[in-house]
Parts: sequence; structure tokens; C-alpha cells
Amino acid sequence: MNENIYLPQQAIIEDIIEENSLVNTYVLSFCDSQTNANFSFKPGQFVMVSVPHQGEAPISLSSSASNTNTFSLTIRKTGRLTNCLHTLQAGNTIGVRGPYGQPFPLDQLKHKKLLFIAGGIGIAPLRPLLEYCYANADISEKTSLIYGCKSSDEFCFKHDIKRWQQAKIDCQLTVDKKAGNWEGHVGLVTQHLDEQVIANHNIFLVCGPGIMIQSAIHRLDELGIQREHIFTTLERQMKCGIGICGHCHMDNKLICVDGPVFNGAELPALHNL
Ligand SMILES: Cc1cc2nc3c(=O)[nH]c(=O)nc-3n(C[C@H](O)[C@H](O)[C@H](O)COP(=O)(O)OP(=O)(O)OC[C@H]3O[C@@H](n4cnc5c(N)ncnc54)[C@H](O)[C@@H]3O)c2cc1C
Ligand code: FES
Repeated sequence: MNENIYLPQQAIIEDIIEENSLVNTYVLSFCDSQTNANFSFKPGQFVMVSVPHQGEAPISLSSSASNTNTFSLTIRKTGRLTNCLHTLQAGNTIGVRGPYGQPFPLDQLKHKKLLFIAGGIGIAPLRPLLEYCYANADISEKTSLIYGCKSSDEFCFKHDIKRWQQAKIDCQLTVDKKAGNWEGHVGLVTQHLDEQVIANHNIFLVCGPGIMIQSAIHRLDELGIQREHIFTTLERQMKCGIGICGHCHMDNKLICVDGPVFNGAELPALHNL
């Protein structure tokens, strides 16, 4: 009999890191030691996460792909499944199947000057790639991050950002509106995409809410960046996650198998993002 391709493997929550009031990072390992030993993924890929009677949803892998015993998922409370996940504790189990989808093309990023542009929870799918750049300093000629959130208490991965910065990854954090003791940058990420920043980079990796991706790519277009030099990861609601049901269809693409990582030249129309 064929193996059921939709059957999730059970994974145990080893640790939960509260990133902000709506976002937790779950550190997980598969209950079956053989599955755990065999599991590997590439930066940009996702898994389908499930809880019985609460549904199933795609979630990006957010840890370094070189971690061998555990993997992480960074999850924002938005609906039925994710609200349920936020009630779980270390020791509880969830269903996980995957990894799925196209990863970032590491060979096309080698020896380039990379600018990561992240909005909100969009930092999650970029983190494995940032960790890769951190661990392999010679992969890129330069690595920078512009990361925007509505307010300073929303930034995820604060400890990692400090660590990346010490490794000469230039991290610029910006909030939409200044409040409290914030003394860093203010303004939308797109407001920090000026000629000077653009001139210092030649590959642009964009991830965030659809509206942020639209305006960041529009801004890069205005600054004369060729679409081939832009990569982004897109979100659509999914059912199968493996190219069968057609639920994640966008223009002539299936986000689950043609993406979620897309080169700018292959993107569906921007107004559809
Ligand atoms: C490739 C990929 C990677 C992803 N990676 C991540 C990730 O790393 N982290 C992450 O947090 N998310 C990620 N997502 C998004 C996540 O899959 C969705 O947010 C998913 O729908 C959450 O499932 P849910 O059951 O919790 O929410 P759903 O119930 O499906 O709700 C989704 C949306 O519907 C709205 N909604 C829900 N209930 C109602 C209601 N009663 N009335 C009105 N609106 C409602 C919610 O506000 C929300 O915007 C990813 C998506 C894709 C495609
Ligand atoms: S989710 Fe079924 S085809 Fe993409």
C-alpha cells in the first residue's frame, strides 16, 4: 500500500520563546528519532503544521538549516490553528509534514552584496538565510538587513540580531511611528530604501505582509533595480501544500510548489500579492 503523503509526523515542543505578545518561536524535534535524524530543509522552505480538529497551515522553517536535532517555527496568532498553538506548552506535540517548496537559490547569492528587507513576521522565513550568511561569512561580499515593525516591542529574534550585528551584518531596525524610549530609525522600510543603500547592494531579499512586498518591490523598480535581482517569498492559504489541490493558485503559479520563494522576474502581478 502507498504511504499516506498527508500523514503528519508527531513533533514535540522542546521550548517556546515569546518574541512578542502575538508571536512565539517553537523549538521542535520529531518524536520518532529516525524521522528526526533524517529531517533536513533549505532556507525558504515551509512545513504543514496541524493540531487535531484545529486545522493545518503552512509555516516557514525559521531556524538555521544546519541545526541537526531541532528545528524552529515562528508563529503569529491569527486564526483557529495558530490561536490553538499559542495555548500549547513545552512537552505538547503537534503534527508536522514537509519540508515543502522552493528554497532561496544559494548559488545565485554567492559573492553578492545582499540586502534583506523584512517587515513584521516576514523576518521568519529570512532567518535561516541570515543564519547561513552568519555562519558562512565568505558566502556574500556584504550582508545587510532593514527590518521594520509597527513598534519596537514587535521585533522578533532580538538576540540573533545583536549576534548578527557583531558579525558585521549591518542591521537597521525601523518602527512605523516613534513611541516610548525608541531611539532608532523611524519610518516604513521603503523610506529607508534610498539611492545610497541601493548602490551598496546588488541582490534584494524581500519578505513581509503582501502590502509591504508590493511597496518594497515598487520602490526597487523606481530605483532601477532589475527584477532578476529581487527574491521574495509569497503567502497564500494552502490545503495540500504539494501541488495537488490548486488552492494556492496565483496567476499561473502554485505558491506551494513554484514558490514560496520567487525571483522578481517570475512574480505574479504585484497587485495580486
Ligand atoms: C509558505 C507560507 C509560509 C508561512 N509562514 C508563516 C510563518 O512562518 N508564521 C506564521 O505565523 N504564519 C505563516 N504563514 C501564514 C499562515 O499559514 C496563515 O496565517 C494561516 O492561515 C494560519 O492559520 P489559522 O488557522 O491560525 O488562521 P485562519 O483561521 O486560517 O485565519 C487566517 C486569516 O483569516 C482571518 N480570520 C480568521 N478567523 C476569522 C474570522 N472569524 N473573521 C474574520 N477573519 C478571520 C485571520 O485574521 C487571518 O488573517 C505562512 C503562509 C505560507 C503560505
Ligand atoms: S496547496 Fe494544494 S496546490 Fe498548493
